[in-house]
Amino acid sequence: MPRGKIPEKVEKRIEKLREDIRYHDYLYYVLNQPEISDEKYDRLLKELKNLEEKYPETVIPSSPTQRVGGQPLLGFPDVIHDPPMLSLDNTYDKEELLGFENKALRILGEGELEWVVEQKIDGVAVALTYENGFFMQGSTRGDGVVGDDITRNLKTIKSIPLCLLKDSRKYPYLEVRGEVFMPTRSFLSINKEREEKGEVPFANPRNATAGTLKQLDSTVVAERNLDIFIHSYSSAPESIKTHREALDFLKGIGFKVSPLREVVKGVSGAMSLIEEWSERRNKLNYQIDGLVLKINDLTTRKKLGATSRSPRWAVAYKYPAEKKKTKLKEIRISIGRTGIATPIALLEPVFISGTTVSRASLFNPDEIERKDIRVGDTIIVEKGGEIIPHIVGIVTEERDRNSKRYIFPRRCPVCGEKLIRPEGEVDFRCINLQCSAQIKGRILHFGSRNGMNIEGLGYVLVDQLVSNNIIADYADIYFLKKDDIVSLERMGGKSAENLLSEIEKSKRQSLERLIYSLGIPFVGAYNAKLLSNNFVSIDELMKVDKERLIEVEGIGGKTASAIIGFFSNKKNLEVIQKLRRAGVRMGGKEISKKRDLPFKDKRFVLTGTLKGYTRDEAKELIERLGGRVTGSVSKKTDWVVMGKDPGTKLDEAKKFGVTIIDEEEFKRLMKQK
Ligand code: IVH
Repeated sequence: MPRGKIPEKVEKRIEKLREDIRYHDYLYYVLNQPEISDEKYDRLLKELKNLEEKYPETVIPSSPTQRVGGQPLLGFPDVIHDPPMLSLDNTYDKEELLGFENKALRILGEGELEWVVEQKIDGVAVALTYENGFFMQGSTRGDGVVGDDITRNLKTIKSIPLCLLKDSRKYPYLEVRGEVFMPTRSFLSINKEREEKGEVPFANPRNATAGTLKQLDSTVVAERNLDIFIHSYSSAPESIKTHREALDFLKGIGFKVSPLREVVKGVSGAMSLIEEWSERRNKLNYQIDGLVLKINDLTTRKKLGATSRSPRWAVAYKYPAEKKKTKLKEIRISIGRTGIATPIALLEPVFISGTTVSRASLFNPDEIERKDIRVGDTIIVEKGGEIIPHIVGIVTEERDRNSKRYIFPRRCPVCGEKLIRPEGEVDFRCINLQCSAQIKGRILHFGSRNGMNIEGLGYVLVDQLVSNNIIADYADIYFLKKDDIVSLERMGGKSAENLLSEIEKSKRQSLERLIYSLGIPFVGAYNAKLLSNNFVSIDELMKVDKERLIEVEGIGGKTASAIIGFFSNKKNLEVIQKLRRAGVRMGGKEISKKRDLPFKDKRFVLTGTLKGYTRDEAKELIERLGGRVTGSVSKKTDWVVMGKDPGTKLDEAKKFGVTIIDEEEFKRLMKQK
């Protein structure tokens, strides 16, 4: 139906409903002060949905009905952050905070500074852009320069306004930045559910948030109850002079901003807040790992500027890792995919920094011996930023007098074969390649998030598939039938279908992921990337000799030998053949990751000193956009970027007729891309 045919009354009603719902969302999700009952709210939403269904041409992306939906994506496009998303200088030491302030004062030559103190939210940083009041794009921080476009996922977060409150339409462009987080209670209940379903629980709320934001299907995100606090902006209206005013302004136009934004005089004025929140933070329904101090006056901030990493006008004070006392119930040996036997401490569960801790890493046998850790001991466990907590000490006074030193087992607890400790190594290893723990580990690694990314191929499932002799290596998963899966515990028809479609989808993964997934010793994500940038397919990689491998910058002799060794193993070759038969992409230029990058196949040469970047930074930036930086000019060079005091490369560029650009042009070139 053409737009004209929609009765004016209907259009008005739709507009009014959207405005009301937006307002009630704000009251509920941002201010936490709802004015109407859930029932009334649902009625408004239902009415809007009905009208939009009847007049589908009225639907707009910012309608409150459009938070979730659409087909799952195949991937996330890149977003370039301009200005880059920096990180924060941080310290655990209060004295150092004063030092930070002194440094700023020296630069400014002023007497006193006013700071805004905020909570440092332990979540995932994102950037949101608004055009004429409408939410246009949301992205992850990524490496600070290039992030992922996760607009669809962010739209499901109810505290992110799809359309700003009324008068904000005055602002043609607005970019805000903040931290997405999963409330602790949601995290705990999601983990409980995951464990019941036999899925691997998330290590902490931050990982749960990051994992959720990486979902290609936004309906999954919508169920995870994510939330956000906005703490920064890259453009604020001219009339705003201080950070505090800016946050209040953002709150006024619909954003959920940093809940703590207290103005204090001097860093010394923040000390009592630091003390106060050290305890109070444990009562919050989200994780904070410190406080952030930011200079309030925006002109002063401009004067101070930033280093390439972090602003000189902000600093984070981080709380030291939390420690708790508990009992060590058992030491269990876990056999990884490479056969390494890792001791794990099973603990009497304790609640530390928002999560229940029931395991701690013991690293290796020497560590147990050195600390004389014994089963039954009362221990002190610490959880810092890292994922797995560790034991920092033993309360020897509480040790049972009859307790015995721990003796590391001599046989693999899974297959019963002897554990070997190779000369000069700290770890014991099970060297039986057919050990089921290793088989399971290799399959899990193959399907993992950085690997072929097969959602649903978790431990419980792999365990059953291997134990029931349905599969014996990772290539076998491509020959699974629905019946094989349905016959397993906790697997229904629907989940079997989902898994099969995930497996099917993984056949099209990039060469980089495939290389990583194979489980070649020493080839992790980084080396896999190097290899995929230098070889076009698995076949090429299989054929190259050690010399050629070492030519790749970053690949050393040990890794090269491991690669050669891997591809000379008959069993490995059989598995790769099986992958090929299954139709898994083995590479080839057409799937090169660089295909969509703006500088793909472009060669740059840098000469002289650049003002805004170090050599490494410029190189990284170019490479991230798909280009290459070479050391010398040839006729294949596309651009020579000239900084201050250029060298002989400039003459070479002229000789070959290569385009020479200065720093400004270089910046512009990147912006265009
Ligand atoms: S301001 C220039 N404020 O901490 C950096 N960051 O370690 C501006 N974070 O990447 C950041 N809470 O994602 C700021 N209240 C807060 C924050 C905060 C958490 C994150 C942020 C940043 C990271 C730096």
